[in-house]
Order: sequence, then C-alpha cells, then structure tokens
Amino acid sequence: MNLPTEIRYKRYEDWTEKELTDIQDKTASSPWRAGYHIEPTSGMLNDPNGFSYFNGKFTLFYQSWPYGPAHGLKSWVHTESEDLVRFTETGTVIYPDTPLDSHGAYSGSAYEIDGKLFIFYTGNVRDENWVRTPLQVGAWMDKTGQIEKIAEVLIAPASDATEHFRDPQIFEYENEFYAIVGAQNHDKQGFIKLYKAEDRDVTKWSEVGNLDFGGRGSEYMIECPNLVFVDGQPVLLYSPQGLDKAELDYQNIYPNTYVIGQTFDAEAARLTNPSAIINLDEGFECYATQGFNTPDGRALIVSWIGLPDVDYPTDEYGYQGAMSLVKELSIKDGKLYQYPVPAITSLRTSEQAFTALPLTKNSYELELSCAPGQVSELILFADREGNGLRLTVDTENGIIELDRSQVGVPFATDFGTTRSCQVATGAVMLNVFVDKSIVEIFINKGEKVFTSRVFPTAEQTGIALLSGQVTGSYFELAK
Ligand code: FRU
Repeated sequence: MNLPTEIRYKRYEDWTEKELTDIQDKTASSPWRAGYHIEPTSGMLNDPNGFSYFNGKFTLFYQSWPYGPAHGLKSWVHTESEDLVRFTETGTVIYPDTPLDSHGAYSGSAYEIDGKLFIFYTGNVRDENWVRTPLQVGAWMDKTGQIEKIAEVLIAPASDATEHFRDPQIFEYENEFYAIVGAQNHDKQGFIKLYKAEDRDVTKWSEVGNLDFGGRGSEYMIECPNLVFVDGQPVLLYSPQGLDKAELDYQNIYPNTYVIGQTFDAEAARLTNPSAIINLDEGFECYATQGFNTPDGRALIVSWIGLPDVDYPTDEYGYQGAMSLVKELSIKDGKLYQYPVPAITSLRTSEQAFTALPLTKNSYELELSCAPGQVSELILFADREGNGLRLTVDTENGIIELDRSQVGVPFATDFGTTRSCQVATGAVMLNVFVDKSIVEIFINKGEKVFTSRVFPTAEQTGIALLSGQVTGSYFELAK
C-alpha cells in the first residue's frame, strides 16, 4: 500500500495508543488470519531477522512496521520457540530510536556469545535531504530480554557500495566470526562483502573482500545474504533484485535464490566450485530467507511469505506478510532439500485417509502419493463449483503446476497466476500445509517447494480431486 512518507516515518512516540489498537482491531477482524504461522498483530511483517539459538531456546525476530501494510519506519519484533513450530511473540525490542538507526532498524542476524545475544543489523539513517547512510550496527540482548545498543558503528559504509549496503549476517567458521553484507556497487550491480571479526571481537570488523560465489552480477542489488553449512558444504542464500532472467528464469517480482559451493575459502573470500544459481522456492511468494546453523550443526531456514512492492488483499485489514514454517536443509545427491522440522507433526490432531472433502477449516496437512504415468489435479480451497487453488501433478512428464487464478481475491496478477517446476518422472510425494491463506507445498520431501498466499472466499473450504490416482492422509492441524 502506498502511504505518504510523513506517515510512514512518523516517530513511534507520535502515534497514540488508540491509533495502534484501532489498526490491531482491524487486523484481528481479517477472515484470513493464519493459525500456526507467525503473522503481525498489525501492519507490515517482512524479513525474518536474528534467527538464532539463545539461552536454550530458538529466537526469531521479524522486520515490522506496526502502523500499516507498508514499508515504514522499521523495528524488530521478538519471538521465541522451544520446538521451532510454536512461536511466542514478546513484543518490539529494537526500535529505530538512536542516531545510528533513526530511519529504521533494518534486517540482520544474531548469535549467542558469552551468554548474551549479539544482534547485528543495519541502521538506516537519512539526513534532512533524505540522503541515506547505511550503518552496520549492533546490540546485546541479555537473558531477560533487555537490549543494550552498541554506541559505535561496527561497519561503516563501504567505499565500493552505494547507499544500498545492508543486512549483515554473522556466522562462525573455523573458530572465527565472519559477516557478510548485501550491497550494490557504483555500476549498479549486486555484490556481497565479507568481513572478519578481529580476534573474535564482534565489535571490530575488518574487510576480507567481495565474496566470489560465481554470480555474474546481473542483479542490481543483493539483499539478505546468508551463508550456512549443510554437512560442511556451504550454501549461500540470497535475494538478488533485478537478476537477469537469462541468468535464471523466475517469475516473481524478485527472486530468492541459492548457490551450493564445494568449500568456503574464507581467506580468499570465495565459494569453491559454486553451482549455478537456483531458485529456492517455486511458489508465488518467498523472499529474504534467513538461515543459521544450530549449535548441533543443523542448517535451518525461514522465509518471508511476501514480496517487496506487492499489494495484498490483507492491506484492507491493515496488515501484510507472514513467516514460513521453519525448514531444515539437507543435501542429497548434490541437490538441496528443504523440509519442515520433525516437530511439525506435533500439530496433527486427527488423521483420516485422503478423500475429497467439501468442508475443512483450511488448517490441515495432506501427505499424498501421486501414482506414476498420470496427471492428478487437486483443488485446494475448493468451492461447490470446483473452483479453487489447482495443483496439477503430471508424473508422466515430471511437471508440477500451481494455478491460483480461480481462488478468492486476485492479486499480483501482473506476475502471472501459475507457477511450475520440473521433477523426475515417476511417483511424486506431496506434503501440503494449508493455513487459512497460506500454502506450503513440499514435493518429494523438500526437493522442490511452493510457498504461496491465497485469499479464499468464505465458501472456499474444500478439497477436490478432479483426476488422477492419489492416496495418502489428511491431518487436521492445531493452532
Ligand atoms: C528486504 C529488505 C532488506 C532491508 C529490509 C528493510 O526485504 O529490503 O534489504 O534490510 O527489507 O525492511
């Protein structure tokens, strides 16, 4: 939604309590509120931030502007979880309230160091002429949730970057701390800069170089770069805005991509033997994915189910955006797989054999197997006429297609109403998670993923099977 700059950048203290509760009430009245996904209580939710393990729990923050479905003065909202499935929100913890983050506490990461959570983020600062200076700044969160901001800039603007220089990710590698920052160079190409903490002191960073990961620089900006290790292999996740479609075919307004390297050569700032650039998700919305390695070595990721510069039907209710399920990464036969953490099955409250169902609560998981050599057409959010979200699984040709042209309120139609991908021919396994207005579809246990929003009418609550041989289970899911 387009809102005037004065509104988007009004200081938090200048909004009344009533203005906030009014918009929260409007949001609460939405027919599309999710049950088991994180959504904002009002306003804009965008990137996942500071995904980490701290004080015996998982911590996940998100970018927030609570006053409307627009990109305003950003803050960080804190949530925590024991099981990576149920998250509890504790409130806004990083406000844009110092000269180092005056125009937004932008995206970043976090890492537990000596019993405190080190938070590394971008302070978006603008002067009276609206000229931006991006500062990489920090804060410490203690075990009681108190935040102490670090008074000095940790990384000053890089001379080879424009004003687009943000989203620091801290990670530990071979007993050293490193950080990568997304950037745009003066030729308007995206790049990633690598830093190293001096003697593991995360308040002192020195530049290693620009990360060589095989990209051709056809994008104009790289947002939210993240390096994680999957069984020791480096996987770089990033959001290259404006990427040339000759370099990678994608259909969303902005892609979310990854590259798998053989090794990470920290000193030379490069991934050795990088793969081609690959789409992380085949659905209509998935962006700014953030990952981290847990203390026990797993690589977990979570994505913003939303995209910059897109209007959503929820705008009418004063909010936008959701967090995806937490997905665990693995590499099999050189291919990246993403699948919800095992605890996801604890949401299941009842199970029945899969069959067409006219009335569901749109809160369920399907675990299905589509027979080889045929075309299955499954309609989710189906109404009596059989309209809804159509998932076609062609196991003969290895094509999977999602079509949202016949479901609920249309939106973002300029970017097309179908998405598809190729898989090997033969039987296909599907795990489909439906949550009111969110769909996450995992093909063959995470070989491909379709993450999308749909905004069904009140009548669109069914599941129909128009063709094909499909067997499996239907599980109702709890909140
Ligand atoms: C990505 C992004 C980040 C930035 C943040 C601001 O969606 O543009 O690059 O830090 O959102 O909210």
